[in-house]
Amino acid sequence: ADDDILRARGLIRVVHDHPEPGIAFQDITPLLADARALRACVEAMVAPFAGRFDVVAGLEARGFLLAGAAAVLTGSGLIPLRKAGRLPAPAARADYVLEYGQASIEVSEDLGAGDRVLVVDDVLATGGTLAAAHRLVAARGASVAGSACLLELDGLGGRDVVPDVHTLIGV
Ligand code: PRP
Ligand code: MG
Repeated sequence: ADDDILRARGLIRVVHDHPEPGIAFQDITPLLADARALRACVEAMVAPFAGRFDVVAGLEARGFLLAGAAAVLTGSGLIPLRKAGRLPAPAARADYVLEYGQASIEVSEDLGAGDRVLVVDDVLATGGTLAAAHRLVAARGASVAGSACLLELDGLGGRDVVPDVHTLIGV
């Protein structure tokens, strides 16, 4: 319900000057620790995509926290999209650019051709991570049924990169 999401918004802890001076870090840990807020947020993240996906793909690391919950809640399988080098048997890889340097994510063959995927992460910032996730899904011959993030950081251009992403709380 909308009032639960409003309450969840109030549970985000703003940590100033983290990880560096001038940055106001949006910490979702208090929200995750609250049973009602956690359930309401995960329900609202998956709601627009009900019945339209087979698996939930979660982005390492913080996306895992929400993706596992979303998978169990919707009776779906769970696919980890891991930082490069972590999976024992990667089947596909997607590279993306960070503020400093480059990063890659990988997925196993368990994401299969024809799977309809709901991609889940905690935060949308520049959209680079989510766009890489979409390329990774496509590289396996699977399709993105939708993407959902708990938080959307305004002013960083993420929505221009992934226009269809569903987010709950803008900050
Ligand atoms: C953070 C966050 C998102 C991503 C958003 O992850 O959890 O995944 O950045 O940023 P973007 O939209 O600009 O790509 P991070 O790479 O810091 O790693 P973590 O989840 O492992 O903490
Ligand atoms: Mg992340």
